[in-house]
Amino acid sequence: MKRPQATAITSGKGGVGKTNLSVNLALALHKAGQRVGIFDADLALANAHLVLGCRPNRTIVDALSGQCSMADTVVESPLGVKMIAGGSGLAEVMGLSVEKRQEIIRSFSELSGAVDHLIVDTAAGVEANVIDFVAACDRVIVVVVGEPTAFVDAYASIKVLHQDTGRDRFDIIINRAANDAVGAQIFSRFRAITDRFLKVNLNHIGTVPEDERLARAVGKCEPVVSSFPNSVSAKAIMRIAEKIHATTPVRDLLDIDDLIQIGMTALVEAAQRFQDTGEATFGSYATIRVRGALVDHVRNNLTLTRTAVQRRDRIAQVKRELLSEGEDADNQILISEKLGIGVSELQTWHTQIAQAADKSLDEVYDDHSIWFADERPTPEHILLSGELRVRLAANLKKLNERDAMVLQLYYVEEMNLEEIAETLSISIGRVSQIKKSAIGQLRKWMEED
Ligand SMILES: Nc1ncnc2c1ncn2[C@@H]1O[C@H](COP(=O)(O)OP(=O)(O)O)[C@@H](O)[C@H]1O
Ligand SMILES: [Mg+2]
Repeated sequence: MKRPQATAITSGKGGVGKTNLSVNLALALHKAGQRVGIFDADLALANAHLVLGCRPNRTIVDALSGQCSMADTVVESPLGVKMIAGGSGLAEVMGLSVEKRQEIIRSFSELSGAVDHLIVDTAAGVEANVIDFVAACDRVIVVVVGEPTAFVDAYASIKVLHQDTGRDRFDIIINRAANDAVGAQIFSRFRAITDRFLKVNLNHIGTVPEDERLARAVGKCEPVVSSFPNSVSAKAIMRIAEKIHATTPVRDLLDIDDLIQIGMTALVEAAQRFQDTGEATFGSYATIRVRGALVDHVRNNLTLTRTAVQRRDRIAQVKRELLSEGEDADNQILISEKLGIGVSELQTWHTQIAQAADKSLDEVYDDHSIWFADERPTPEHILLSGELRVRLAANLKKLNERDAMVLQLYYVEEMNLEEIAETLSISIGRVSQIKKSAIGQLRKWMEED
């Protein structure tokens, strides 16, 4: 099953702005049309709900101990971002086994119907529970502020995460800098340190300036992105959210689990349809069917934008729900109600999905894409195939008349085995045998040439 894209926000020391960045990034991604959840994994100082203005009454501990489902733990905040609380008992639950911790993030796949992107607000430092949460996420953002002690702690965190989980790529947010230029300086100073001692790749994903309005928003228990959307910090966070959105791996569009599912379905269908006429082995038949199904899926998806794909998937999911409830799955009113949008908005979605399939060439062109590869044979290929043709013709002449006839009927006249059998008054099995041995013979001669 697909699980939501997961981004961990972590830091070396506390109080650097993880929770505020988590909540505000989540909100910014939500505004960009994503369905976003925050998982508050800071067990000692769980406060994301305060910034978000909601009160979770179930925690993930309840779900893990079987008292409720994972979906029951999700609280919808007034601002539209969903929230999942870690729960103070989580440390004990997790203390039971190492696997359990990773299982938690994996179990978020149960939320894939409700959430596209999960932001994990972690505790500071490098305790086991922080590392395991971070290890299970797709992207790790380390929040760094420009003080020498913060540098040391952030460096220590990255080192441990790198050594313990093998991760070698980290996104860095410089928080509380005076401005972008200072942020860039802080980043390069920090990178100079990691470059000397660690084989990791740091990506400066943005600077959030020191902003009195962010502090004021905290005082009001509101995220700055919603209470002061025009403030410098809110704008910086929106820009970072855009980068996160734009660089989320293509896995969203081409999910490996989807591909496996599609391949399996095609394989089962191939097994049902296959008739053993001796013309092709099941292996080669199935390969063609499975490959065809996968190529179709890829083709259908690659021309869609990320948002269009998500909207299409949500519509498909809602339709399945309606079907299972015995409702009319094509009723646009029911669909829009379930999606929580108006009918006219749904219409916009449909148009967007349809339009996304016809993008301009400039938008989709890529020098290295197989879609734009020249299908004409290369001069080298022409030369080789010319030579090949002469050799093949010479070898065909060496075949006895009956074998040559079978190959001619099959490859030139494009008769099937049954028609050839009819024409030559021999059994289908015999035709198949002749064809096979003649090709074997030809191949041998060609290889000897
Ligand atoms: N960019 C900023 N500008 C001004 N104050 C900030 C900024 N980022 C964080 N703060 C202050 O730091 C405090 C701690 O932030 P918080 O997000 O709770 O940190 P963490 O989760 O890392 O412990 C906030 O309450 C806020 O007052
Ligand atoms: Mg915090």
